[in-house]
Amino acid sequence: MAIEQQAADGFGGCCLSDSLFERYSWFYALCREHLFHDHTYDISHALWDGATPEDGTHVVELGCGPGFYACRFAEEFPQIRTTGVDLSHNLLTRARRRAARRNLANCTFYNADVHALPAAMEPVHDIVVSRLFLIVPNREDVLREIFRVLRPGGRCFIAEPVSAMRTQLPLSAMWLLAKITSFGRVPYIEPHKVKTMSAPEFEALLHTEPWESVKITRRGRYQFGVCTKPLTDQSSEARASAEITVA
Ligand SMILES: C[S@@+](CC[C@H](N)C(=O)[O-])C[C@H]1O[C@@H](n2cnc3c(N)ncnc32)[C@H](O)[C@@H]1O
Repeated sequence: MAIEQQAADGFGGCCLSDSLFERYSWFYALCREHLFHDHTYDISHALWDGATPEDGTHVVELGCGPGFYACRFAEEFPQIRTTGVDLSHNLLTRARRRAARRNLANCTFYNADVHALPAAMEPVHDIVVSRLFLIVPNREDVLREIFRVLRPGGRCFIAEPVSAMRTQLPLSAMWLLAKITSFGRVPYIEPHKVKTMSAPEFEALLHTEPWESVKITRRGRYQFGVCTKPLTDQSSEARASAEITVA
């Protein structure tokens, strides 16, 4: 499908006109490009053990913003397809432009809410989530959706910052821009303070779903979770026996 055509498509036509990410998409795209860590290597090792993903693998980046990882993996592995999902039309426009500049025909972007992912997106082999849980109102619902749409044996890589102060900076800057440019009228839906997760909170969140295994690592300013969905349906007793590694 041509990238122009994809731009017109969406799963539910969601919109988020009162979002700071929508209003100041240019600012967030700059931060993503120049301020935040690039975890491509970690993701690739976690999801495919450093090998090449199989032909036809479908990788979904949730809350993709300007499409950093969706484009990166589509470019690095032309045999797979990637889908970026976000609520912000403006960030998705930037993501699509990024894909077009790189001539990526295997990279699609959709407007959808990560709390209710569309069935049309399935099957999903792997999911990448970066800096999303600090902003969504209901983390457990989002994780439930991730678990639901992943195919059996699929993996999810989650990267969440741990430093509230550093993570706060881009959000505070967007709020400041809003105050300056909205003349006191600041109707945006984002919280004023980001909610980073403590290590126990992160671990507790990941264990709200019956994964086959959960591997948690902490490095520098991030904590990472790699969750693998069981190959077959698991009962609630099996949830307790999931392999848990914290490094
Ligand atoms: C902090 S940014 C992270 C962007 C990107 N993953 C990164 O690593 O820079 C959060 C992104 O999630 C999107 N977002 C927030 N709530 C969402 C929701 N309910 N459904 C889909 N996307 C959402 C925002 O529009 C924004 O692009």
